[in-house]
Amino acid sequence: MSVTKREAARPASARISGWGMYAPERILTNADLEKLVDTSDEWIVSRTGIRERRVAAAHESTATLAAIAGKRAIAVAGLAPDDIDLILVATLTPDYWMPSTAALVKEAIGNRTAAAMDISAACSGFVYAFTAADAYVRGGVYRNVLVCGAELLTRFLDFSDRNTCILFGDGAGAVVVSASDQPGGGMQGMELTTDPDGAYMIWLPSGGSRSPASGETVGRGEHFVRMEGRETYRFATKTMATSALKAVERAGWTLADVDLVIPHQANVRIIESVAKGLGMPMSKMFVNVDRYGNTSAASCGIALAEAVDTGRVKAGDRIVFVAFGAGFTSGAVALEWTADPAHGLRAASVAPVASVRAPVDWDSVDPMPPRLRAVLESGPPVPLDDVVPGEPEHAHKEVPA
Ligand code: ACO
Repeated sequence: MSVTKREAARPASARISGWGMYAPERILTNADLEKLVDTSDEWIVSRTGIRERRVAAAHESTATLAAIAGKRAIAVAGLAPDDIDLILVATLTPDYWMPSTAALVKEAIGNRTAAAMDISAACSGFVYAFTAADAYVRGGVYRNVLVCGAELLTRFLDFSDRNTCILFGDGAGAVVVSASDQPGGGMQGMELTTDPDGAYMIWLPSGGSRSPASGETVGRGEHFVRMEGRETYRFATKTMATSALKAVERAGWTLADVDLVIPHQANVRIIESVAKGLGMPMSKMFVNVDRYGNTSAASCGIALAEAVDTGRVKAGDRIVFVAFGAGFTSGAVALEWTADPAHGLRAASVAPVASVRAPVDWDSVDPMPPRLRAVLESGPPVPLDDVVPGEPEHAHKEVPA
């Protein structure tokens, strides 16, 4: 049998060569949310583990968040933007329905050669995109694939719905998957699932072909995320443990071989339940949901970058990242880490700025939800233990209905 050109180009392995993240500067605390809906810091922390989340500034978009994280991952890999052959952006909050957010990211990172496309698998998006990148590289089609998970969820939330607005935040995480001449390392096992029984458990009802945007759909609040929290919780705890276990088994490992699990950061109670289901101690579960909330497709990418940069991952470690999301989708990857964590320092050379070309002859609306803007402009976050006397005036500022 003759060897095709493509087969001849197959590398010995596909490995993560770069990683990066970006979280917008502005912090939205639970105390801020107390001014918007009938909730409390105590309720949010005890039910979710979330203490604060980030909110993108008006000049930022999903593409700019992804571009900053992507540029950092490329710098960490020691590559130039034009070395990237394919850009995958996992998101459920794209800049536009079209073009793809990935196309905008391509220009923003200064790449002139790559193919670019979005991947839609909600909070499992980063895991889905990563497995696609791995297949392209391992199959010898591309040498360097940039995978970004990026979300600007605060523009798709109803800030009068306490069931959802307390959970989500903005941010982006990215990795570069590269061809390597060294055998071993990289993804060793994976599992992806989709359970359409849960299709309407987390959804955004209007704006698609089923229910096109109209004054009526806007009036009925159908352009915001809706969620059945309890059903989602039940699905999440079950599927995350099952998916992680399958990926580990396909890698030929046992759970005892795993050094660190990097789960989708939706709720610390879900993470605790997954740890229990797997029989693993919480010390082997990476948690940063307290600081970012649920950043959906960005969550695993942000957590991975933080885990490596804070010394939780070293070369030779066996890690698992695992996620679930709307669809219901879920996915897990069992991966042997190979890159030198010290390369993460290179990300510091990338300033947190990215620009996406503005459309010609187009005046956009103010992208910030009015209720959110009112809270952000009412002053810096109020300390949670701040009591009278001396309570800052902005703590009492009225938020428009
Ligand atoms: N503040 C105060 N009270 C609240 C709030 C709030 N923010 N939200 C709900 N409550 C109330 C409810 O109204 C209910 O009151 P009731 O008993 O009088 O009816 C009570 O608190 C308990 O509500 P539950 O829904 O049972 O609370 P639960 O413990 O299940 O926690 C939560 C809710 C945090 C949403 C949980 O179900 C959860 O985390 N679910 C998973 C959600 C998730 O991960 N979604 C991401 C999906 S990923 C993607 O693809 C986008």
